[in-house]
Amino acid sequence: MENLAIKGGSPVRKEPFPKYVTIGEEEKKAVIEVLDSTVLSKFLAKWSPDFFGGPKVQALEQDWAKYFKTKNAISVNSATSGLYAAVGAAGVGPGDEVIVSPYTMSASATAALIYGAIPVFADIDPEIFCITPESIRKLITPSTKAIITVDIFGHPADMKETMEIADEHDLIVIEDAAQAPGATLNGKYAGTLAHMGVFSLNYHKTIHCGEGGVIATDDDVLAERLQMIRNHAEGAVKPRGVKDLVNMVGWNYRMTEIEAAIASVQLKKLAGLLKKRIDAADFLSKSLPGIAPFLTPPKVRKGVRHGYYVYPIRYDKKKAGVPREKFVEALNAEGIPMTNGYTEPIYLEPLYQQRIAFGKDGFPFTYPGYHGKVDYNPGICPVCEQMYYRELMLTDVCHANVSHKDLKDVVTAVEKVTDSIGRL
Ligand SMILES: Cc1ncc(COP(=O)(O)O)c(C=O)c1O
Repeated sequence: MENLAIKGGSPVRKEPFPKYVTIGEEEKKAVIEVLDSTVLSKFLAKWSPDFFGGPKVQALEQDWAKYFKTKNAISVNSATSGLYAAVGAAGVGPGDEVIVSPYTMSASATAALIYGAIPVFADIDPEIFCITPESIRKLITPSTKAIITVDIFGHPADMKETMEIADEHDLIVIEDAAQAPGATLNGKYAGTLAHMGVFSLNYHKTIHCGEGGVIATDDDVLAERLQMIRNHAEGAVKPRGVKDLVNMVGWNYRMTEIEAAIASVQLKKLAGLLKKRIDAADFLSKSLPGIAPFLTPPKVRKGVRHGYYVYPIRYDKKKAGVPREKFVEALNAEGIPMTNGYTEPIYLEPLYQQRIAFGKDGFPFTYPGYHGKVDYNPGICPVCEQMYYRELMLTDVCHANVSHKDLKDVVTAVEKVTDSIGRL
């Protein structure tokens, strides 16, 4: 039996794993072209053709709409901006509740707070880690206005049932597909499965332009509201003749021409980059259970193509005999990137525990027009807590720059640590 690296033995790998690099000559050329044009942005906060941005921004939106088969694509400067704009476009305001996943990046929930609404956290599915229709149903109250689903780690949420619930209760659904570009559910792209879907183009996503985002919607009214919110709505509503002024208070969420030009090039690479992620993930999913029966690879539901933003693995402590943290530490010592648990359930953040968001008086939690009774106590989402505290491990090695040999090192390290697990 080989000596574990954590006990002073030689690690499976000494060299770091390759970085994910997708920027190449095509992107450089696109950037130079924009610089040569001297038009780095063309947005004007005035109702005019320039209200919609410059040629690269508009080209990206057309490319995006065509690729994802959505009627409208609205570029923004981050998925965070996209989520905020989507909540605004949905007409959410103080006194409303928005049901959201607790197992996501914080912005999925702050999007509700920004409009003075209350995030209400629904528990997640133990196989795909997205909020479940059952947990959503239990939380619907007269104050519920919207639902934000998150296609976490790249697996689409249960969108069909979620949309049925929304129809029943007249709610708007926003799909946070920041982590799932190219993933599909029954042949339809993640990000196009709700009333609005939000993509991220930040530097650690499958395709990127440094920072950026896109909102997809088939609804023309929502599309115009999104365009308004993106670009100082208040100044454009009068010339445009907009009558519904709810949330027509705008921000500057505009993307630059350089980012848009890069994003258009990256979009062409998406299918190829995603295929490599899927191949890498499939290799791990086939290899791991045979050598470590206490590990469960990510479940891929029928009709789903997974986006594998990261590769989530469930760890069964009872079967393994040692806590997850020890196993992860031993893998790290062998040179394998692996982390415990993803983000803490969002409701455990100080903002929710102390109910302080805007100003010192606890707005929006203390807003007199809010008639609900939101609960942020530990234990409200037991599956999420179980995943975070005990079961979930994540690795980011499933990407296009990782070779078969790199993936085999992961398997070798898991096998080595598993063989000596009793010594941890
Ligand atoms: C699920 C999710 N939503 C939203 C965001 C925010 O994306 P951005 O960094 O583009 O604002 C992220 C970013 O990591 C994310 O993972």
